[in-house]
Amino acid sequence: MIVNKPPMGWNSWNTFTDKIDEKLIMETADAMVENGLLEVGYEYLVIDDCWSEKERDKNGMLVADKQKFPHGMKYVADYVHSKGLKFGMYSCTGTLTCAGYPGSFGHEFEDAKYFAEVGVDFLKYDNCYATTMENRLAYLRMSVALRSCGRDILFSACNWGTNDVHNWARSVGAHMYRSTGDITDTFESIKYISTSQMDKFVYSGNNCFNDIDMLVTGLKGQGNIGFGQGCTDENYKYHFAFWCMASSPLMIGCDVRSLSEENKALLKNPFLIRINQDEEARPPMFSGKEYEFSAIKLLSDNEYAIGFFNPVDKPRTITFNFYQLGLMPSDNCTFKLTDVFTGEELGSFNDYVKVTVAAGDVKMFIAKPEKK
Ligand code: GAL
Repeated sequence: MIVNKPPMGWNSWNTFTDKIDEKLIMETADAMVENGLLEVGYEYLVIDDCWSEKERDKNGMLVADKQKFPHGMKYVADYVHSKGLKFGMYSCTGTLTCAGYPGSFGHEFEDAKYFAEVGVDFLKYDNCYATTMENRLAYLRMSVALRSCGRDILFSACNWGTNDVHNWARSVGAHMYRSTGDITDTFESIKYISTSQMDKFVYSGNNCFNDIDMLVTGLKGQGNIGFGQGCTDENYKYHFAFWCMASSPLMIGCDVRSLSEENKALLKNPFLIRINQDEEARPPMFSGKEYEFSAIKLLSDNEYAIGFFNPVDKPRTITFNFYQLGLMPSDNCTFKLTDVFTGEELGSFNDYVKVTVAAGDVKMFIAKPEKK
């Protein structure tokens, strides 16, 4: 199965943990369509941990929780598909999932068959209660089972960046791999994650994307991973813009049945989505790190995304010198800039771009070169 763009969708964990059921999932499917999220690319609706009964049936098969999903998972999957969305589910390399439900170890082939029968299009495969088997092989086992189950199922590996996963995720057939521990709805977490993978995005690209975890935009302190007031709108802009620049999968984590206008506009920003989904899927190049940094990503159609990130609590002035693109003034190359947040066209720039970025905020531009 070829996955040539970072997967986009919604996942139940960040807001709902174990408080999931048929009604929530069906209402979420409706909301993804009504809010135009599907239209801009958010196509996977993924149910995370806590969907099953605590025991397998007498044949060793997984069973949907009878209270939460009284009509079974196929009923939910059929509804999700009827909306034009794709359906995702969750399991684990270990004997149990992180929340203590049955894991897939030793049952990979039955479980892959179960997921195929339900109509699953995406499997998030977590890593709790792992056995002594080499981690790479535990993922490979499920990959082999999925590849033989008769249905195309996107394989989303989630071992939190352990065991040098970037070195083998692509080889074992993962289409995306979690490279970090769990995100929380704090700017500290966003900052930590955004700087932790700068030297590893070179491993990410078509068919195997570095997944720096699900989005927290719009949580505002609510839900499973919310703390206090959550983040400011500027912090959420920083977060989303970085994930787009990094070609990370974009899995929405908030309750899409009650999206704020700001959050909806951010999640649907056409420039940012275009940067994230660019068909060349080139990793960004960075300069700077702790106090401020700029990032540049080559896009198809002779364009560039340039981002200016300020992770500290004071405004910073950040300069992007065209020498960072290997260009010299004698090359007479100017760039026309468009602000991705406002859509404003800012005219032509020679030699460098210098911007002041508020605390915990970002500025980002699409740059188009013009050779004089
Ligand atoms: C964690 C994982 C989270 C979520 C949770 C469910 O290991 O990183 O994204 O899936 O388990 O228990």
